[in-house]
Amino acid sequence: MSGRSARGAGRARPVTDPGRSAGSGTGAESGPGYPGGMPEPRTFRDEPVSFVRRSGRMSEAQERAFDELAPHYVLDVPRHVAWTSVHPDARLDPAAEYQRVAPLIVEVGSGQGHAIVAAASSRPADDFLAVEVFRAGLARTMLDADRAGARNLRLIEANAPEVLSSYLPERAASEVWIFFPDPWHKKRHTKRRLVRPGFGGTVGSAIRDGGLLRLATDWEDYALQMREVLDAEPEFERAFEGEWAERFDGRVMTAFERKGIAKGRDIRDLTYRRVARG
Ligand SMILES: C[S@@+](CC[C@H](N)C(=O)[O-])C[C@H]1O[C@@H](n2cnc3c(N)ncnc32)[C@H](O)[C@@H]1O
Repeated sequence: MSGRSARGAGRARPVTDPGRSAGSGTGAESGPGYPGGMPEPRTFRDEPVSFVRRSGRMSEAQERAFDELAPHYVLDVPRHVAWTSVHPDARLDPAAEYQRVAPLIVEVGSGQGHAIVAAASSRPADDFLAVEVFRAGLARTMLDADRAGARNLRLIEANAPEVLSSYLPERAASEVWIFFPDPWHKKRHTKRRLVRPGFGGTVGSAIRDGGLLRLATDWEDYALQMREVLDAEPEFERAFEGEWAERFDGRVMTAFERKGIAKGRDIRDLTYRRVARG
């Protein structure tokens, strides 16, 4: 099961629906604002998801991006319990999708797509996949990618752990990037962080032996958590010396980094290598 289409595109729909009704017991809440009336997820494998879909209407240009550009850029994945879910039986076939065999770089939480569009357009020999749940961000990514002529990029509107753990074939990715993930900095929310114990297994299945996991954050407390979690995961080993990794020079400055710097926060990079499978 894999494919591409602009399914669900073209209507002026809310990006999210803040007034949703009660949960269904599947870890999802009904969300009339979602394409196909699919529900909003609350949990995945009984753990809270790391995002809340932001409210707001898509602009005309963003709607047009979904109408006109999604057929090329957005992967049409079979859903499961919610619009952002991926059916556990669905698998990407990268060679068929990108029409070649090339290193695949996956960015989780690509936001407006600044980093991945810059990378895709400057590295035509590699293939790129942006994973994001924020529809307006996906629209912006498509518009910029189209303007830059980046044809080696695909987008998927889905919950990243589901993409990493089952939609991507084992070893499909050369690198996975996670830049400025939502920090969920309040104590009662830290359990929603993407990088939490067990994440090594989730992301590790998608990365080839020797491949890299690159992370960056401006939240010291989250940086410490990332390092503690990944140091302990058997799938990964440090690919840096000293306390933190050097700034990854393939990472362009985004609004999130700029904001962190303006607030006087240190930006922390981390790089881990996927250890060879036994
Ligand atoms: C703080 S923003 C950073 C965006 C971008 N990396 C940057 O540096 O500009 C984090 C992004 O991760 C996305 N996100 C959070 N959890 C996600 C998940 N489980 N699956 C896919 N995207 C997710 C959010 O929608 C948001 O756009």
